Amino acid sequence: MTAAGESNPPPAPVGWFGLEPTRTDLRDDPYPIYNELRETQPVHQTPEGYFRIMRHRDVTAILKGLKVGVRTTDGKLPGVDESAMPRRFMLMQDPPDHTRLRRLVSRAFSPPAIAALEPHVVELVGQMLEQAADRGDGTIDIIDDLARPLPSTVICEMLGVPLSDRPKFTDWTARVTHLLAPRSMTDEMRRLAGEAAMGLGSYMSKLIEERRDNLGDDMVSVLIRATEDGDRLSPEELLTQSIGLLVAGFETTIGLIGNGMRQLLLHPEQLRKLRDNPELIDRAVEECLRFDGPIGATRRVLHEDAVVHGVLVPKDVELLLFIASAHRDPRVYERPDELDITRDSRSHLAFGGGIHFCLGAHLARLETRVAIGELVKRFGSMELVQEAPIWGESIFRVQQSLPVHVE
Ligand code: HEM
Repeated sequence: MTAAGESNPPPAPVGWFGLEPTRTDLRDDPYPIYNELRETQPVHQTPEGYFRIMRHRDVTAILKGLKVGVRTTDGKLPGVDESAMPRRFMLMQDPPDHTRLRRLVSRAFSPPAIAALEPHVVELVGQMLEQAADRGDGTIDIIDDLARPLPSTVICEMLGVPLSDRPKFTDWTARVTHLLAPRSMTDEMRRLAGEAAMGLGSYMSKLIEERRDNLGDDMVSVLIRATEDGDRLSPEELLTQSIGLLVAGFETTIGLIGNGMRQLLLHPEQLRKLRDNPELIDRAVEECLRFDGPIGATRRVLHEDAVVHGVLVPKDVELLLFIASAHRDPRVYERPDELDITRDSRSHLAFGGGIHFCLGAHLARLETRVAIGELVKRFGSMELVQEAPIWGESIFRVQQSLPVHVE
């Protein structure tokens, strides 16, 4: 075990869930550091007092564990700014509250409901690529032209948000996401995030009120109607779940489409394989989730002291579970640092695991499969304009821009 306060703390990757925001040098490629920590200090406490969990087996065991939660045994949410966060969001709740909220909300995310969106997603992606190609300058920006507008258009349509409100809606949502990682925020980011939370909150309350008098088949109406054994969401719960869905689903999907395409462009032999074998698209998406997914880590606490990988972890101390490190664990993946779209990567943890497994996974997979599939189909040649990534301010691993030469 690495004792708390050890004189030489390991360097921390940047900006994800409370890790040194100043180490921008680690951002482009944090994986060597993950590899080192995972092999030398698989479970260790940082000088700040939280524990990092680096191996696939330990991360999985904690995500799926029974004596584990997001809140401490006395109900606190460690490492999160509860004052500003939608604290009643299901991801911030342990059972039985979590069970109840998730059961009611999952109505809007049933696999058949999501699968039915596919033709429309194909149409949207087609329109977006057409518009980008029509500029006629031989380049597209995969983020601006596709990865950003797609999830926001789909979710706005699902919620019934009018087209004209979408830019402000997208902007609020991106800023509110920062509240998940207050440690890596500057004061200015915190202020903007607070303002955005207010804006989004009042916008969504109005939308819910309007919908209540005029139920349709959009997601807000489905959530208003959702009942389970006579139980239903209170107005406050409904508001919180709707905002939480946006926060959970926007930036992450942009990150997956953008990082996935960037990695395929950096590995032209893999891109060629996908072009020659379009049926590999599902595997390719899973491999993109494993290889360079948008989420570095998530947090939990133990409800009882436990020994994890030989290290005593006391209950109620914040744990950061490094999903992105687990994804490069050689105990689980052969040649983990190689992108290989033919491998079976389904044991990845990019959507979490256990009771909080991502409710939007089907939707994210659908959007990414169509976005990457159509890009490959439409453009016979794609090349990065520049090799260095252009990162955004997101707490997730999300590019701001991804310009590509296309033919
Ligand atoms: C590539 C895109 C996405 C990724 C990588 C992702 C990842 C995750 C992860 C890792 C978790 C679990 C967090 C934890 O256990 O601490 C989670 C939970 C969640 N995600 Fe996603 N997500 C994505 C897209 C979406 C979308 C599109 C939606 C909905 C519109 C969504 C809604 C949710 C919800 C509601 C939860 C909480 C579930 C619960 O607490 O039971 N996600 N997501």
